[in-house]
Amino acid sequence: MKLNEPITLRSAEIRNRIWLPPMCQYKCENEDGLPGDWHMVHYGARAAGGFGLIIAEATGVTPEGRISPYCAGLWNEEQQQAWARIVHFVHTRGATMGIQLNHAGRKASSYPMLPSFAGRRSVPLSDGGWETVAPSPIAAHGHEQPRELSTEEVRAVPGAFADAARRAVAAGFDLVEIHAAHGYLLHQFLSPLSNERTDEYGGSRENRAALLLEVVEAVRSVIPETMPLSVRVSATEWLDPEGWKLEDTEWLAGELKARGVDLIDVSSGGNAKAKVPVGPGYQVELGAAVREASGLPTAVVGLITEPEQAEEIVEAGQADAVMIGRAALRNAEWALDALAELGASGDELPYPDSYFRGWA
Ligand SMILES: Cc1cc2nc3c(=O)[nH]c(=O)nc-3n(C[C@H](O)[C@H](O)[C@H](O)COP(=O)(O)O)c2cc1C
Repeated sequence: MKLNEPITLRSAEIRNRIWLPPMCQYKCENEDGLPGDWHMVHYGARAAGGFGLIIAEATGVTPEGRISPYCAGLWNEEQQQAWARIVHFVHTRGATMGIQLNHAGRKASSYPMLPSFAGRRSVPLSDGGWETVAPSPIAAHGHEQPRELSTEEVRAVPGAFADAARRAVAAGFDLVEIHAAHGYLLHQFLSPLSNERTDEYGGSRENRAALLLEVVEAVRSVIPETMPLSVRVSATEWLDPEGWKLEDTEWLAGELKARGVDLIDVSSGGNAKAKVPVGPGYQVELGAAVREASGLPTAVVGLITEPEQAEEIVEAGQADAVMIGRAALRNAEWALDALAELGASGDELPYPDSYFRGWA
């Protein structure tokens, strides 16, 4: 079975190829970006549930970079210590842990995507929201119009990511992931649909990618040589020819590789309204193309829900690992269940010893 084979990224030895993708929990109830008991239980249960790599949710590199007021952050010492406790527990269960660093740009200051906030987008200043920023003053669908960042402000973004990355290292994370997908700030810069700048960060594809590449260089320079770096991309906006396309991502992956990125986490869309062909494994082909073009290890995500389906993707060499999102919200032990269903037993099944009688 391929899914249960370990994989090594720099010095991170990941026990299997079933990974938990970053998923916002909106559970920092004091609006202070501090992960707490919910996060410990959520990530801890999935570490105990057999996942190889767990990537913590989109975490703001600055307060204004949070998606919602209830999102996690990593811009201060207290947050670093709170994350350290969670990382420590995840390690005791044999899982590897990464964190997704994010600036939400024009999609910041949003209400959480929770049933209690259904249909509501931008949080007004009167309800704890803040002014959002972006490459250009173009609103994301249903959101408030953002303020255009000055060139000087753009130049400060890599430093904010690097500061958070330094804290991630201090908190004990094994991997850092930069969020350049789903219509958040770095994706907003990449896409001609949201970037109409006339300075060195706009115009040509190279210019639009400059901020992401500077962020990668800044982060790479502060994390240890031994620590793997991942970038999540939206491989396409599903809006050809005017949007960011697969061939752009194939080019970008080469640039990321040249700057020391070790893993591409392939997703799609999120920056503009588009018809997305949602269905089982609908992003796998995109991941396979990026993997082929770049030669970099690649993880794929998106409606991978069945153990056989997951095994086939990795076995066929379409990806090095699969990420299980919503199915893992329904079942914290998705990974253990899948490995058992595919025939793993004994030492190959990393269930907690306390649960021995449940598996015997
Ligand atoms: C509740 C929830 C929160 C999410 N938050 C994030 C996030 O913080 N960062 C991110 O890159 N993707 C996020 N996503 C997208 C998932 O990582 C994943 O790409 C998507 O759900 C598709 O995979 P799935 O079909 O296995 O759920 C989120 C998805 C869900 C359901």
